[in-house]
Amino acid sequence: MANENLKEAKAAKNDEFYTQFHDIEVEMNAYLEYDPDVFKGKTVLLPCDDPEWSNFTKYFAAKFEELGLKKLISTSYAQESKNYKTNWQPTLFETENPRFSADKTAVCGKIFTLTHNINNNGKIDINDLEWEYLEGNGDFRSEEVTRLRDEADIIITNPPFSLFREFLAWIIEADKRFIIIGNMNCITYKEVFPLIMYNKVWLGVPFPGGNAYFRPAIQSEYAVGGVYNEDTNLVKFRNCIWLTNIDHGRRHQPLSLMTMEDNLRFSKHKEIRGKISYEHYDNYDAIEVPFTDAIPSDYEGVMGVPISFLDKYCPEQFEILGITDRQNTSCLRTKRYTVYDSLKYNDLNARSVIRRDGKYIPMYARLLIRKL
Ligand SMILES: C[S@@+](CC[C@H](N)C(=O)[O-])C[C@H]1O[C@@H](n2cnc3c(N)ncnc32)[C@H](O)[C@@H]1O
Repeated sequence: MANENLKEAKAAKNDEFYTQFHDIEVEMNAYLEYDPDVFKGKTVLLPCDDPEWSNFTKYFAAKFEELGLKKLISTSYAQESKNYKTNWQPTLFETENPRFSADKTAVCGKIFTLTHNINNNGKIDINDLEWEYLEGNGDFRSEEVTRLRDEADIIITNPPFSLFREFLAWIIEADKRFIIIGNMNCITYKEVFPLIMYNKVWLGVPFPGGNAYFRPAIQSEYAVGGVYNEDTNLVKFRNCIWLTNIDHGRRHQPLSLMTMEDNLRFSKHKEIRGKISYEHYDNYDAIEVPFTDAIPSDYEGVMGVPISFLDKYCPEQFEILGITDRQNTSCLRTKRYTVYDSLKYNDLNARSVIRRDGKYIPMYARLLIRKL
């Protein structure tokens, strides 16, 4: 129970950090390079995004005209509803505005909309955002934010990590286009994996080296789950991904790979080089490929690859058949272990297993793929 509380506290703290402008720009450029009109005439909703903090709002407001947006809507979550409390004060932007309400400021979310030039300076930008309080706290699950979701064409944000599953389900149930940030492990969720397998959802362009750096709302207090750097005031998270259903060019670039024979002779990985063959699983009809760059180009059968393969996945080159995980959706398993064996080796039935020197060796979750 204590552990559960700790996990919840960590998740709650992890909700309060902000995406950097540069990361948003790099990611959006990938979709724009593939289709320069991707945002043209579209209504973009940024839930969980107070413009005072959010670079998502700043980016889309600054680029409103260049992208040809029809409407930008950004909503924020009420201070009182946030999981983690701070010595928060409303900003001058809010208190000096005639709309300011001392009763609503802490308990209501806000909605910001941008459609046209209101200050008559000839261009649409962040200064043309109009705002008002929402009736409720701005929870994305509320009726009023759900109505905004229904109005939008594209939903973009870094959602609260603690509510990631619910957030994605909220988008999917409305069949909307989206670009959101999450953790690589989300692809093993039973709600997410089938979407990946059937190419309904895919990864965006990776954060460099798989590391994402976010700005915490209040310094190291919020760095739980990541590594806080005092000099940069940024928190580093491993395994962050962009998840999307909008197309980009990178996912259509096939991986350049060596044949199996060449891998066995020249691979840079000692686990492969000099071996007679790739290992075959004991409980799946598939070979184990422990590194994405060691996938043999000429193997016709099923291969188990690390889930980080998805960063390089090109649907014209490979098909995904399943995943060797607790939520396994594949029919490729050939064997189930007895409860005794399974538990002795840390739940063998949840994984693909290699039999080596008489021992059962469970692998990490593997994607089961086959070349097309
Ligand atoms: C990871 S932060 C990202 C903020 C912003 N999207 C960005 O990337 O800079 C997630 C934000 O969602 C807010 N949030 C938490 N629960 C929420 C909910 N149920 N509905 C809407 N927003 C929520 C948090 O307060 C936090 O500000």
